[in-house]
Amino acid sequence: MKVAIFASGNGSNFESIASSEELKKLGLEIEILVCDQPQAQVLQRAKNHHIKTFVNKLSDYNNRSEYEKAIVEKLKPLEVEYILLAGYMRVVTKTLLSNYPNRIINIHPSLLPKYSGLEAIHRAFLANEPVTGVTIHYIDEGVDTGPIIKQSKVVRLQDDTETRLESRIHQTEHQMYRAVVRDLLIKNNGVVNNEKSIN
Ligand code: GRF
Repeated sequence: MKVAIFASGNGSNFESIASSEELKKLGLEIEILVCDQPQAQVLQRAKNHHIKTFVNKLSDYNNRSEYEKAIVEKLKPLEVEYILLAGYMRVVTKTLLSNYPNRIINIHPSLLPKYSGLEAIHRAFLANEPVTGVTIHYIDEGVDTGPIIKQSKVVRLQDDTETRLESRIHQTEHQMYRAVVRDLLIKNNGVVNNEKSIN
């Protein structure tokens, strides 16, 4: 199954997926990393894994639609089936969504619909939330909205610091994203085998 990963920053979720031997064995092929920030750490991670990159800056285009059209043109010849957003700091609009309906997945560090948007971990920590967590969902045109695939809770511990909470949330994210991709691969492999047996 061919996927593109979109990221803007550190790329620890990208790393966790790209370095998973299990996902590779199940047929995951990361065709390309799409990144809107030329200085992002995730670009080096992609190079280390010999994964192609497409650095695409919104400011190089007249509008968001042209920016996303350039992405679609890049992905089509690669036959990308799913897009995994992993810390991609841009709202996705119709241009991309209509080309990949129900095929764009996002990860967010809160129990959506709570704490959608930026700085979710920080805001949940400041609000003394006893429980926060991680959500993986298909996206629609809203900010951190769309059908939920999986949610996991992360409990705030006594004497927790924001750094420690954040680190546990990231660990949860990595496990969850790998699990969701694993399920997708298994489902996809089932469909492929089924098609083979029909033919
Ligand atoms: C993660 O917390 C993810 O949930 C959010 O952006 C962060 C990306 O982290 N959307 P990384 O770049 O994968 O380390």
